[in-house]
Amino acid sequence: MRSVLITGGAGFIGQNLVHAWRATRPDDLLTVIDAMTYAANLRSLDPLIARGEIQFVKGDINDAALLRRLFEENRFTRVAHLAAESHVDRSIDDPEAFLNTNVLGTFSLLRASLDFWRASGMLDASGMLGASGTSDQARFLHVSTDEVYGSLNPTDPPFLESSPYRPNSPYAASKAASDHLVRSFVATYKMPALITNCSNNYGAYQHPEKLIPLMIIHALDGKPLPIYGDGSNIRDWLHVSDHCHALMAAIERGRVGETYNIGGGNERNNRDVVGVICEALDRAFAADPKLAARFPSCPAATGRSCRSLINYVTDRPGHDRRYAINAGKLTTELGERCRVDFQSGLVETIRWYLDHEDWWRDVTSGSYKAWIDKNYGFRIAV
Ligand code: NAD
Ligand code: TYD
Repeated sequence: MRSVLITGGAGFIGQNLVHAWRATRPDDLLTVIDAMTYAANLRSLDPLIARGEIQFVKGDINDAALLRRLFEENRFTRVAHLAAESHVDRSIDDPEAFLNTNVLGTFSLLRASLDFWRASGMLDASGMLGASGTSDQARFLHVSTDEVYGSLNPTDPPFLESSPYRPNSPYAASKAASDHLVRSFVATYKMPALITNCSNNYGAYQHPEKLIPLMIIHALDGKPLPIYGDGSNIRDWLHVSDHCHALMAAIERGRVGETYNIGGGNERNNRDVVGVICEALDRAFAADPKLAARFPSCPAATGRSCRSLINYVTDRPGHDRRYAINAGKLTTELGERCRVDFQSGLVETIRWYLDHEDWWRDVTSGSYKAWIDKNYGFRIAV
């Protein structure tokens, strides 16, 4: 039995990780810390909290006193660090929160982990682990992004763990800085840390300001589907369940001090992704007449294609052209590979949003509307 701290556990990947962890390691004690920003949602964790199956703490990873208390009370031996400001468009609009959480917050968490593991004898100054003599007591997993590597040209090989860091957005720069801090703690203090850099995730519980959920719910409400620029930017889509399995493998079996890239092996340009979403929705409405009554504003409700909503708009400044991951190291060393193919993963994700209208109506009320006005109000059709 291990005591595990998951930061950002109320976010998209965090919630999925909590469920995956519970399903595969039910004896572990899980504590989630989350500041409950706009991106957080506790609905899926509420039943676990109510049954005492996980501990939830609303708090900021910059709160050193809180972290110290949590470490002392729970004696964490695993830290899975996912808390972050994560949306590129928001980082362009206002980067400061990205530096506070992604850089300073990561530093604060590294320091709290190191201090506790040293003070409790789990780690000595030479990096030897474990007063009890076991070689593997404490582990810190830093969850990062492929965006630290910058942008690829169409014929470039996919990113390797050794690819140079060339972040282009304030978000990517803040994650790059956090990766460097983790690396420096490994080299300097023998911190038992690992880094994973993954590609774009999709799946249940993703906040509807990210591409895939945004397009699904806009289509259902008959709103324009805003594709930035000419839509030829490429992302390597990774189903969140594959990501979570890879994270658990990395924290348990990965080599300390190493970086592991995690990708979906599934490069698609944004035009294609939106096209696949539209066609899947068209088919779902054709197969289930009840959907037309629930979503009367969707073009598919009246037999038109959701593609009629596609709207090419002003591009994102500094928009990275292409991301692609070479996940060979993850497969060779840890035996992890993707199980979910994009087409069926996307259909299943669309089904999840169709079945969880309450969830996204709730998430898209209030401040979401203000963000949509701010991010799309100035963009003109091109
Ligand atoms: P998310 O934005 O959905 O969730 C982040 C969570 O962190 C939220 O619940 C938020 O409330 C919490 N948080 C923010 N600031 C905090 C603070 N100061 N203290 C405590 N909690 C705080 O993000 P996500 O998509 O779940 O991403 C999780 C991690 O994975 C992030 O580190 C992100 O950089 C990385 N990542 C995500 C993707 C992706 O496609 N979603 C891709 C690559 C890497
Ligand atoms: P996003 O989900 O914001 O992830 P990231 O920027 O981290 O890759 O965007 C994915 C891709 O979709 C990216 O190339 C930008 C593009 N995009 C649009 O074309 N329109 C949109 O409204 C959004 C949110 C994203």
